[in-house]
Amino acid sequence: MKVRKAVITAAGWGTRFLPITRSQPKEMLPVVNKPLIQYSVEEAINSGIEQIIVITALGKRAIEDYFDRSFELEYFLEQKRETKLLQEMRELSSLIDVCYIRQKEQLGLGHAILTAKNFVADEPFAVLLPDDLIDSRVPALKQMVEVYEQYGTSVIAIKRVSSQNTVKYGIIEPKRVSAKIYQVLGLTEKPKPQEAPSNLGVVGRYILMPQIFDVLEVTPPGKNQEIQLTDALQLLLQQQTIYAYEFDGVRYDAGTPLGWLEATIAFALKQPDIGRELREYLRQLL
Ligand code: UTP
Repeated sequence: MKVRKAVITAAGWGTRFLPITRSQPKEMLPVVNKPLIQYSVEEAINSGIEQIIVITALGKRAIEDYFDRSFELEYFLEQKRETKLLQEMRELSSLIDVCYIRQKEQLGLGHAILTAKNFVADEPFAVLLPDDLIDSRVPALKQMVEVYEQYGTSVIAIKRVSSQNTVKYGIIEPKRVSAKIYQVLGLTEKPKPQEAPSNLGVVGRYILMPQIFDVLEVTPPGKNQEIQLTDALQLLLQQQTIYAYEFDGVRYDAGTPLGWLEATIAFALKQPDIGRELREYLRQLL
């Protein structure tokens, strides 16, 4: 069955970005001139996704407004004969139909995904975490869809992390299948380096079979008292094989100030209108 639906989780508090996240959703932080969430939406569209649901929460209205149509703005741009900008703004609001669900209590990533149960129903679906920003020639999710089509079961994205960084990620216990594909034998959430089963860290892109919902419903709260997707995947392993795929591309952990700055600089350096001047500025600065 084709992967048609994507869930984008955007309900977290974003505490690592306080104080800006007091009134500004983390997913609306700009990387150059687009908010983080738009990169995920575009990645989903360019991977063949037809329907998107964004999980939001209190204080995240800016996300809904962003993808909506703004007739006032269009009128203003029309009057000013800003034809190119006008066209870009129209294209943005017609990218794809996005639906929204509010997670009423922030009980963790696993709980956020569970709120999409009725939307997804009985089909495989993608999950994208917008704070994992991926720069790749072929969209990372598209690469994963190809792996899913080969194996017909859940696929999670992974990247190698340094051993001092295992405490920041879900880490898999891998069994190598081919150069970039591993069978997942187990998962541990944020282990200490000496307890990590490998240095393959989970990245925020998943293709999940719908059975994950039944599992999420019975997954007890784990680390930080949150319902962890990692714990649910560990339980799902009792019923089905899960593969991990080391995608081609660079991942930025844009949910942290340093990762966001790295992403901003890397993306800006590639912009034809500002890249050269920024490079020159950085040279002078350093
Ligand atoms: P994070 O672990 O990055 O948490 O969530 P966070 O709240 O966004 O940020 P910090 O750690 O407080 O700085 C990973 C993903 O899960 C979503 C987040 O929006 C992000 O996409 N999430 C997390 C939810 O949607 N709901 C939750 O209850 C928790």
